[in-house]
Amino acid sequence: MPGFTAYAGLHEIGRPQAGETLVVAAASGPVGATVGQIARLRDARVVGIAGGERKRAYVRDELGFDVALDHRATDFPEQLRAAVPDGIDVYFENVGGAVFDAVLPLLNDFARVPVCGTIATYNRRDAQPPPGPDRVPALPSLILRKRLTFRGFIQRDFMALFPQFLDEMGAWLKEGRIAYREDFVDGLENAPRALIGLLRGENFGKVVVRLAEE
Ligand SMILES: NC(=O)c1ccc[n+]([C@@H]2O[C@H](COP(=O)([O-])OP(=O)(O)OC[C@H]3O[C@@H](n4cnc5c(N)ncnc54)[C@H](OP(=O)(O)O)[C@@H]3O)[C@@H](O)[C@H]2O)c1
Repeated sequence: MPGFTAYAGLHEIGRPQAGETLVVAAASGPVGATVGQIARLRDARVVGIAGGERKRAYVRDELGFDVALDHRATDFPEQLRAAVPDGIDVYFENVGGAVFDAVLPLLNDFARVPVCGTIATYNRRDAQPPPGPDRVPALPSLILRKRLTFRGFIQRDFMALFPQFLDEMGAWLKEGRIAYREDFVDGLENAPRALIGLLRGENFGKVVVRLAEE
C-alpha cells in the first residue's frame, strides 16, 4: 500500500521529469523512500529529509538520494535552500509543519505538490495554530502567482493504476532497483506503543506488527 501510494501520487500528480528537483520528507519510511527512488529512476534530482544521522545516511547511501537533510537541524531551512539551487519542482508532502514552511518559498513556477500526509499535525487536533502572523491568506496568492498545483489524494483514488504498478514495481524489485526496509514489532499488545513511536519518528522503515511466527 505505501509503495502504491508513492507510485500513484507521483504518476498522477507529481510527474517528476528528468533534471527536475523533487523533495520528500519522512524519506526513510515506506512512502518517502519509494517516492525518492522512483524519482531517481525518472532521472530527477532528489532531496530527502529524515530525522537523525542514521536515517539520513540510509537515505543518501543505501537509497541513493542525491542529498539527505535532517529536519531537526537548527539551520534546516538554510540547508534546504542550499540543497536546491534550482528551486523545487515537486514537493511530495508527507509531513506538513516546519518542513512545509521551509519548502514553500523554494517552490518553482508550475511546481506540483501531491498532498499525501501531514504527520506533523496528526497529534494536534486540539492545539492552537502556531505563533506568528496568519499566513493562510497569502497561500492562494502564492498558488496563483507561481501557478502551483496542490492536490490531496488517498491511494485508493487511483486503483485503476494498480495493475501497472504491480508490473513496473515488480520488475524494479526483481532487478534490485528499489530497496525497502521493515521495522518489526512483536505482539499486538505492543501496537499502540509502535504507533506512538511512529508519530515521534522512532520507527526505521515500515512498521509491521507481527502477531505470530509463520
Ligand atoms: N494519502 C494516502 O493514501 C497515504 C497512504 C499511506 C501513507 N500516507 C501518509 O504518508 C506519510 C508517510 O507514511 P509512512 O507510512 O511512509 O510513514 P513513516 O515514514 O514510516 O513514518 C512516519 C515518519 O514521519 C516522520 N515525522 C514524524 N513527525 C514529523 C515531523 N513533525 N516533521 C517531519 N517528519 C516527521 C518520522 O520520520 P523522521 O524520523 O525521518 O522524522 C516518522 O518515522 C504519512 O503522513 C502517512 O499518513 C498517506
